[in-house]
Amino acid sequence: MIDFSDPSFAENPYPGLSEIRSAGKPIWHEGLQIFLAATHEDANNVFRNKSLGRIFKEKSPEFEWEIFNWLHADSILDSEPPKHTRLRSLVTKAFNRQKIEGMRPAVERISQRLLDEIDIKIKNNETFDLIGDYAEPLPVKIIADLLGFPESEEHLLRPWSQAIVKMYEVNPSQLYQDEAKKAAREFADYVHQLATYRKTNPGNDLISELAAVEEGGEKLNAHELVATCVLLLNAGHEASVNAFGNGMVAVLEREDQAKLLRQNARAITETAVEEFMRFDAPLHLFERTATAPTEIGGVRIEPGQKIASLIGSANRDEKVFQNPTEMNILRDPNPHIGFGAGIHFCIGAPLARLEMSVSLPAIWEKFPTMKLASTPVRRPTFVLRGYESVAISL
Ligand code: HEM
Repeated sequence: MIDFSDPSFAENPYPGLSEIRSAGKPIWHEGLQIFLAATHEDANNVFRNKSLGRIFKEKSPEFEWEIFNWLHADSILDSEPPKHTRLRSLVTKAFNRQKIEGMRPAVERISQRLLDEIDIKIKNNETFDLIGDYAEPLPVKIIADLLGFPESEEHLLRPWSQAIVKMYEVNPSQLYQDEAKKAAREFADYVHQLATYRKTNPGNDLISELAAVEEGGEKLNAHELVATCVLLLNAGHEASVNAFGNGMVAVLEREDQAKLLRQNARAITETAVEEFMRFDAPLHLFERTATAPTEIGGVRIEPGQKIASLIGSANRDEKVFQNPTEMNILRDPNPHIGFGAGIHFCIGAPLARLEMSVSLPAIWEKFPTMKLASTPVRRPTFVLRGYESVAISL
């Protein structure tokens, strides 16, 4: 059975995923004690099935995991109704399509500023890093701005987030565990202090709004406030960086696709963004636990048993997508499940789409002759799939 933590699997998981999918129904992974739902239909049904919940399993009751535990247990993502409904309703307004569309000028401004900075870099260095210079700072700045996280401290966000999300990989090492505990403590302390300050000095931002709700009592307690802000800050950039980075590398490796963007990026942005989400998924695996006996793809799941939705596999299901192993940025329709489905469907989907639909044509118009300057460096992880650095030259 596939070893998800094997670096050679992480390098290119698609042949292995295709093998799991060929069973045509969920299969049991004995080592991980979890069912794997790999077809589009099964993975989608895992997200939608009401007897399958996101049940956060505490790392250990030890004191040192305490903050990491409540940062998850008290967040929107790791809770179920009625708590999930209450927490989600507090933030959905801030992410509705209209409100997000209103952020377009700000996204355009940041994107242009980053491209101008890259221009200067190119004149001096001849190359730039697509991840560090563009894919990462754009969503970080946007989500920081939306929440009211100080610009001078933005550099803290990616390292904290990276340390925490390494725990979502299969079998994280002791070093990763120690780094995650430390990051959880520092991040929670920082956000707690910021929210306390915003209660008396409110700004026009989401942390101020949520802090006011917490002050009011009932709807949000102190841990939920911090957990919600940390989740939004992390989820608000981590996958966006990788969706853009993975898609761009795939395009730059395929001359026919690069040519389409070089010629008329703006006209094809919408389908290109969806294909970025499908072709090389930034998020691959989400778990659920059965709260009642249920069935996925004809396989019975007993209460307490776990099942994983394999998004990257679902998005390459040959029953749903024509030539799924080929990247086609004109693909339409494109029913990928990159943002999940059901009650936990990604709140940030309109924001992620807006960011990519601005940043993609902007960079191709500015640097139409872009090409990979060397082999891109991947992170050796599977669940969150992305690049460490991608050197580009003109
Ligand atoms: C390309 C970028 C993104 C991808 C691929 C992505 C993907 C996902 C997926 C698959 C889920 C569902 C997880 C599950 O059901 O277990 C999810 C949930 C979530 N996402 Fe995103 N996301 C992205 C960007 C964002 C952004 C920009 C935000 C901004 C705040 C965000 C906030 C959230 C939140 C808060 C949840 C939890 C929703 C809930 O549990 O009800 N995401 N995302």
